[in-house]
Amino acid sequence: MSLYVILLTLHNLNRWLVLLSGLWAVVQSLAGQNGNRPFTPAERRPISMFMGTLHLQLLLGLLLFAFAGMQKIPLFADGRSSFQWEHLGLGLLAAVFGTLASTQSRKAATEQGKYRAALLWSGLAFLLVLLATPWFRPLFRFFS
Ligand code: HEM
Repeated sequence: MSLYVILLTLHNLNRWLVLLSGLWAVVQSLAGQNGNRPFTPAERRPISMFMGTLHLQLLLGLLLFAFAGMQKIPLFADGRSSFQWEHLGLGLLAAVFGTLASTQSRKAATEQGKYRAALLWSGLAFLLVLLATPWFRPLFRFFS
């Protein structure tokens, strides 16, 4: 089993943690839009998890790119040729937006403002994750 396949498996499976925490972050920020709910550490949890899983996905993706380059492995050979750059660009931007969801919701002055910043940035990041995901590849991979 090659290191590339190990990294690809981790990148494949972590995608589900990205999607689940992203969905949780968006649903919770939506629920905070009406009323005067305080933005407590419990409300922050899904936002931090979304950012953390996105950062891990980015790290694994960069390692995959580096290893593929060194070993001359063609990327997304089963997709259209521009997909690798779309995947890299959209994935990178998703990680930036996921980070903004955390920092901007921390900076906002009011509880409403925190929920609004969390919804805007985690909503955009979630959308980009959906667009970046190569849905034509296996939904689950276990070291093969
Ligand atoms: C943040 C959202 C991202 C998601 C949800 C995501 C998801 C995926 C998935 C599901 C695969 C297919 C895995 C498989 O075939 O089993 C994949 C492959 C890959 N991703 Fe990502 N990815 C993301 C970001 C990135 C980033 C930012 C990079 C690069 C810096 C990257 C680089 C790669 C590479 C090199 C492959 C392997 C392609 C191949 O072997 O043909 N990914 N990604």
